[in-house]
Amino acid sequence: MQGIRFRGLSIPECQKVLPAAKPGGEPLPEGLLWLLLTGKVPSKEQVDALSKELRTRAVVPAYVYKAIDALPITAHPMTQFTTGVMALQVDSEFQKAYEKGIHKSKYWEPTFEDSLSLIAQVPVVAAYIYRRIFKDGKVRPVNDTLDYGANFSRMLGFDDPIVHELMRLYVTIHSDHEGGNVSAHTGHLVASALSDPYLSFAAALNGLAGPLHGLANQEVLLWIKSVVDEVGENVTTKQLKDYVWKTLKSGKVVPGFGHGVLRKTDPRYTCQREFALKHMPDDPLFQLVSKLYEVVPPVLTELGKVKNPWPNVDAHSGVLLNHFGLTEARYFTVLFGVSRSIGIGSQLIWDRALGLPLERPKSVTMESLENFCKKAASS
Ligand code: MLT
Repeated sequence: MQGIRFRGLSIPECQKVLPAAKPGGEPLPEGLLWLLLTGKVPSKEQVDALSKELRTRAVVPAYVYKAIDALPITAHPMTQFTTGVMALQVDSEFQKAYEKGIHKSKYWEPTFEDSLSLIAQVPVVAAYIYRRIFKDGKVRPVNDTLDYGANFSRMLGFDDPIVHELMRLYVTIHSDHEGGNVSAHTGHLVASALSDPYLSFAAALNGLAGPLHGLANQEVLLWIKSVVDEVGENVTTKQLKDYVWKTLKSGKVVPGFGHGVLRKTDPRYTCQREFALKHMPDDPLFQLVSKLYEVVPPVLTELGKVKNPWPNVDAHSGVLLNHFGLTEARYFTVLFGVSRSIGIGSQLIWDRALGLPLERPKSVTMESLENFCKKAASS
C-alpha cells in the first residue's frame, strides 16, 4: 500500500481542493465529510451549510456529563470518552426507528441522522473531558460563526488561529484510513449486527484506545520526552541511535514507526511536518522528531523483519499539539477519536445504504490449524 486516498484524492490533493477557512489554509474537516459521503468535492457554500448543520446538532444532554462525572478523574480520557458516547446512545434515532419496525430499505436514513449527530456531539463531549481532567471543568458554548475545527479548539480552550488551523488539519487527516484499521473495522463489525452508530462507534473507540492503534500518539510524545529526560534536547545522532536500540532491546517498540499496510512514509506524517516547518521550525521537539526520521528507519531495517521502517501519523502529531500548549499526552487519542467519528460515521451510512450483511467469519478446528501448520512447515 503506497499511500492514503480519500475517495481517490491524496492528502496534498485534499489540501488543494477542499474548501478552507481562509485562502490557502488547511482543509475544513466538514469538506472531507462531504467528500466521504458523496464522492464529490463540495463548494465553500456547501461546506458552510454543513458546518451550520453540525452546530445545530452539537447538543449534549445533561445525563451524558453525569455519566462521565461518575468516573474518577483519574480514569483514562479514552475510558471517559467511550462512556460519554455510550450515554449519547440513549437518543439514537436508529434504535427508535428499529423499535417502530422500520423497513430495511430505509435503515440508512436514521443511520445518517445518528452519524451526523454523533459527529457534531463528540467534540463537545471530548472538550468536556479535557476541561474536566486538566482545567476548570467549564466548556465554552458552540460559537455560531465558527467551523468544526475552530469550534473544537475553542471549546478545548485554544483561541490561537494557528491552533484552529492545526485542528482543521488534524481532524481532516485522522478521520479515515480504509476499512481495515482496528477502529473502522470494529465499527463495521458491530454495526453489521444492526447496532446503531453510537454503539458501533463506542466499540470502535475501544479499539482506538489500544497502544498498537490510536494510543500510539500518546506513547510517541511520552517516549520523545523520555529521550529528552535521559540525554537532553540537544541529543546527538549517536545518542539517539543508542536510545532507539535500548528501547528495542528492552522488548518495546519505537512508537510511531511502521504500519500495518503502508510501505512508505505516511503522508499524514509529511503534511504535519510541513505544518511544523511553516509554524514552529525551531521547536526543539520538532527537531528531535526530524532527527528520528534519519535515525530510526536504518535501525529498524538493520533489525530485520520490519516491512515498513518509516514514520506514521502518530510520530508527528504530539509535538505539534505540545508546541501550541496542548501538552497532556494522555488526552491525545481522544482527539484522534473525534476525528475518526467522521470516517466511521460516513462508512456506517454507506454500510446501511448498501445493505451490507452481518459479518460472521468462519471458525476453524484445532486439527485443521495443525494440518495447515504442518503443510506450511513441509513446503
Ligand atoms: C489508521 O489511521 O487507522 C492507522 O493508519 C492504522 C491503520 O490503518 O491500520
